[in-house]
Amino acid sequence: MVGVLEAAGEATRLRLLALLAEAELTVSELMVILGQSQPRVSRHLRLLMEAGLAQRHREGAWAFFRLRDDGPAATLAKTLQAHLDTLDPVIVADRRRLADARRQRSELASAYFARHAATFDEIRALHVEEAQVEAAVQAAMGRQPFGTLLDIGTGTGRMLELFAPQAMVALGVDQSPAMLALARARLAGAPFKHVQLRQGDVYALPVEAGSQDVVIIHQVLHYLDEPAQALREAARALAPGGRMLVVDFAPHEVESLRADHAHRRLGFERDEISAALRDAGLEVRHVKALTATPGDDRKLTVLIFVAHDRRGRSPETVASAKEGL
Ligand SMILES: C[S@@+](CC[C@H](N)C(=O)[O-])C[C@H]1O[C@@H](n2cnc3c(N)ncnc32)[C@H](O)[C@@H]1O
Repeated sequence: MVGVLEAAGEATRLRLLALLAEAELTVSELMVILGQSQPRVSRHLRLLMEAGLAQRHREGAWAFFRLRDDGPAATLAKTLQAHLDTLDPVIVADRRRLADARRQRSELASAYFARHAATFDEIRALHVEEAQVEAAVQAAMGRQPFGTLLDIGTGTGRMLELFAPQAMVALGVDQSPAMLALARARLAGAPFKHVQLRQGDVYALPVEAGSQDVVIIHQVLHYLDEPAQALREAARALAPGGRMLVVDFAPHEVESLRADHAHRRLGFERDEISAALRDAGLEVRHVKALTATPGDDRKLTVLIFVAHDRRGRSPETVASAKEGL
């Protein structure tokens, strides 16, 4: 306790705690916000991490820092937050510079998006309207709240934007730092404070077995060598009674998607996905095909699956999941 209090009881480190409670930030961003050198900022961060007040995760060449959300020191960090004077001029100035840093991130993300917009638009034009797909997945999943959400291959984070408001905590995983940067810019606002983004692989998800109430794999399987293995890994993450939403293309012949957009699979038969979900131990309860309006033959059919973990949720699991959140 003395070590934790010593770590927190210093002006710059208190400022850091206030900032890390708001957002995941890199050392470079923190240097600009605090107006301090890299060695100083890194030293303060190291002390906060050693005390269990902050945590770090790597994403390619970058490291992101945030407030630790588990362990005894995390509770203390939250208590300290609650007692900080939000009108203190130093805190107010830090917040303003944090807003500038976020704006800058979002400008960088938009520049990347602009460079790749043609590609995104080209693919979008091939399949049924996104709004139609989104309405269908929302109808399939319902509007009721749940505990934990995992979006696998989150890309620009659109599925998190749609479903995170229903979750108590949400995590987006993607292998691409560029995509994660877009997602981070999209999910910068206060309604998404409970959302985290992590670099990770679909075959080795950075979550514990049985920890997720809802898992989403939206338009990711066609990039993979081993879609069935990815579904097994996703099923591992599902909590008892949890649900998995899988969305992908039905079989098609747009060969150019392979050469131009790195697709490995030109869609999937419904039976292939259903069988893989069953082999992963799930029960497929909903399958829907969204086809283009007749005469519009450019558009690919989108398949939607909702599969359930077969183990029911006991009252004890519900209680312990709530405790863990
Ligand atoms: C078409 S995007 C879909 C993004 C998002 N799910 C959506 O529908 O808006 C596919 C995403 O899968 C990610 N991806 C592909 N292979 C992956 C892998 N092995 N591990 C993690 N992410 C992967 C890509 O980086 C990309 O962001």
